[in-house]
Amino acid sequence: MDGAELDGVYAGYRGRDVLRAVDARIPAGAVTALVGPNGSGKSTLLGVLARTVRPRRGSVVLPGSGRVAFVVQRSAVSDALPVTVRETVAMGRWSHRGAWRPLTRRDRAVVAECMERMEVTALADRRLGELSGGQRQRALVARGLAQEADLVLLDEPSAGLDHRSRLRVRAALEDLRAGGRTVVHATHDPREAADADHCLVLAAGRVAASGTPASAAGTVSPV
Ligand SMILES: Nc1ncnc2c1ncn2[C@@H]1O[C@H](COP(=O)(O)OP(=O)(O)OP(=O)(O)O)[C@@H](O)[C@H]1O
Ligand SMILES: [Mg+2]
Repeated sequence: MDGAELDGVYAGYRGRDVLRAVDARIPAGAVTALVGPNGSGKSTLLGVLARTVRPRRGSVVLPGSGRVAFVVQRSAVSDALPVTVRETVAMGRWSHRGAWRPLTRRDRAVVAECMERMEVTALADRRLGELSGGQRQRALVARGLAQEADLVLLDEPSAGLDHRSRLRVRAALEDLRAGGRTVVHATHDPREAADADHCLVLAAGRVAASGTPASAAGTVSPV
């Protein structure tokens, strides 16, 4: 399976470009860390890959079936959602079933397994809005895993998580890679960036460096 590729991408909001002339290759079946300072365009680039931000110019090629899971940045999630953790994770199956179809036995098994992996099983019947920030984040990562997408995008999935939960996220990224998925995650943690197979460094909406984490960090250290 091929990876994703951005070629000469310009994209932004309301006519203002955030990403400018971005060329990037996201290798298939590998974990890519997206690093760069606040406001450098990481979430925007993930939005382009998730097709929630439409490029003004340039081309974007997505891998495989084009099925994409996007775990958005924590700050972008409303805390007033009237859904339970189990329902949230089950939404991850909509791309397979359609929102109106009952879950199959396999869907339910995947939902249960993903809740287990992110340690939210005990919270299954709690409403998302009444969880702590870290608990909610784990539920959202579990939903992303439940999608079983070819391309899995996670926007700072470990931000604000305790050590144990960070290890869970790390293990989940490993499992995705082992399963041949293509993963891109934004991070401010140099250690997480160093663990990736590939690293993409953004600065002011442009690609400042890309390559192995060591080579990319040699150009601009992750912040
Ligand atoms: N919905 C939006 N509408 C208008 N401008 C936006 C929107 N989202 C982001 N921007 C602008 O785009 C630029 C890049 O933001 P983006 O969220 O992509 O950065 P980031 O690298 O993810 O930052 P952070 O590390 O803080 O998450 C910023 O200048 C920001 O103000
Ligand atoms: Mg961001």
